[in-house]
Amino acid sequence: MGNNYLVLFCLIVVISCEYGVAGGNLGRRNFTQSVVSPTQEPCYRCRFLILQFVSAVCPRLRGAKINVDQLDDIVASDPKIKNMLNNIDSMGGNAVFWMNLAERSKQAKVFIRCPQPVRNADKPKLRFNTNGTFKIVNFADLHYGEYQGLPLGKEQDNNSTRVMQTILRIERPDFVVLTGDLITGEFVFYNPEFYLRKVFNTLEERGFRWASTYGNHDNGFTSTRESIFAVESTFSNSYTQTDGTDDLAGLTNYYLLVYSSNATSNVTNEVETPVLIMWFFDSRGGFDMYGLKPANVDETVVNWFKVENAKMKKKWGIVPALAFFHIPTRQYRAIQATISIRSDCVGLVDEAVVTQDRETGLMDALVNSDTVMTTFVGHDHDNSWCCNHKKMQICYNRHSGYGGYGNWARGARVVNLKEEDITHRLNYVRLENGTIIDAFPKGSESTFKL
Ligand SMILES: *[C@@H]1O[C@H](CO)[C@@H](O)[C@H](O)[C@H]1NC(C)=O
Ligand SMILES: *[C@@H]1O[C@H](CO)[C@@H](O)[C@H](O)[C@H]1NC(C)=O
Ligand SMILES: *[C@@H]1O[C@H](CO)[C@@H](O)[C@H](O)[C@H]1NC(C)=O
Ligand SMILES: *[C@@H]1O[C@H](CO)[C@@H](O)[C@H](O)[C@H]1NC(C)=O
Ligand SMILES: *[C@@H]1O[C@H](CO)[C@@H](O)[C@H](O)[C@H]1NC(C)=O
Ligand SMILES: *[C@@H]1O[C@H](CO)[C@@H](O)[C@H](O)[C@H]1NC(C)=O
Ligand SMILES: *[C@@H]1O[C@H](CO)[C@@H](O)[C@H](O)[C@H]1NC(C)=O
Repeated sequence: MGNNYLVLFCLIVVISCEYGVAGGNLGRRNFTQSVVSPTQEPCYRCRFLILQFVSAVCPRLRGAKINVDQLDDIVASDPKIKNMLNNIDSMGGNAVFWMNLAERSKQAKVFIRCPQPVRNADKPKLRFNTNGTFKIVNFADLHYGEYQGLPLGKEQDNNSTRVMQTILRIERPDFVVLTGDLITGEFVFYNPEFYLRKVFNTLEERGFRWASTYGNHDNGFTSTRESIFAVESTFSNSYTQTDGTDDLAGLTNYYLLVYSSNATSNVTNEVETPVLIMWFFDSRGGFDMYGLKPANVDETVVNWFKVENAKMKKKWGIVPALAFFHIPTRQYRAIQATISIRSDCVGLVDEAVVTQDRETGLMDALVNSDTVMTTFVGHDHDNSWCCNHKKMQICYNRHSGYGGYGNWARGARVVNLKEEDITHRLNYVRLENGTIIDAFPKGSESTFKL
């Protein structure tokens, strides 16, 4: 009898996300939403947890002679399962594991509520230093996990870690941004988490705080944006978020606020006005186990930006902003075509721009925002230039990892800001060997102490 229950139990766990399980206890809106359809984002997130749960619980139960009523105890007494539940709990703050064993029916159902997005308010506020500076290091295209299991892959990953460590040691940034392609997801056939942890551990162990927007290679057969986010969210220094609405396309669409060094200097009615905004947009792309993904920042996200930006301007006035996303827009291609005949640009131009697959109005929205000063992208490893574009600067980051094509010296783009005039800013590329190149705007190094 026990075994019948158990087979049924596992089966229901697996299918509950796919087809939706109607049940008396499904009154909670969030949970009901999360089981309706596998094509909806919340369900992906839910599915990841369910797969984790099945792989942890089912082997433990298979062949065991137990009564459904004992399931609770078994789950609670197995350290591995307990640990997994704790992890789920810690992912979203209020995420919980639900188990409902319908008492007199022959069905045992496991309900897992998806982790809730981590909100801005849950992390310590980001602030300028007391000397009025704020420095950001951008690592792009690290591509960990490429050639998984081969010595070449291990050597590449070791090299990428060396790049990160060296640049972090030299720059001591106040914040780190990972602009996509943290891993080469399509090469990672098992345990993408192992490679993600290499990236995040390097930052967390040294006390650096960071935020990511994911790239087209981050997903793969065993890796989804939701599963990456679930891993990343367990790190206390990660500021990566989701928009929290689930309606927006892609996962890493959000913003972070950075405040004045002087916490009492810009406070009205006990609400502090930020001095800098960092926007992160998810340009998606690549594929995962559900198929190919559109490779663009969706119109719904562009509209969300416009609405939020207008609200912010009304509330705070013009607060300068930076924008980070992985895949360049087609304006990058148009501008690259003019670089040889203009004098404002700096940096490497060594390949055709591979743009988002559709024009969705992102760049126009940013140009017209009155707030966004600079955009930063990755994706094309052999380009790392900066140019002016209308009221903004548009920049490539530097290929930072040894994974992925491209053999130019690895490095990271560094952004230096001063609170006294944030619109006056300096970017440059710090190479792995310590050399600074491509300072932008040209000549502005002299006004910053590097
Ligand atoms: C459901 O989600 C909304 C936001 O989407 C949140 O305000 C609410 O607290 C959530 N409910 C539960 C039971 O977690
Ligand atoms: C400002 O303070 C930060 C944090 O203490 C420090 O890392 C940085 O070197 C200082 N910058 C200058 C220009 O003094
Ligand atoms: C990579 O680094 C690890 C840890 O430092 C070391 O054990 C391993 O031998 C290195 N592998 C290669 C191929 O360099
Ligand atoms: C690792 O870095 C060293 C030193 O820069 C380089 O000689 C070697 O080719 C790199 N290995 C790979 C696999 O890229
Ligand atoms: C911080 O701001 C408050 C209010 O503007 C001001 O009175 C105070 O002197 C400032 N403190 C420092 C250290 O600048
Ligand atoms: C303080 O906030 C106001 C908007 O509320 C803004 O106009 C002003 O620039 C801010 N001042 C500083 C020093 O950040
Ligand atoms: C660092 O690497 C760059 C690019 O390979 C090279 O031009 C520069 O001379 C190197 N600097 C030092 C100090 O070795």
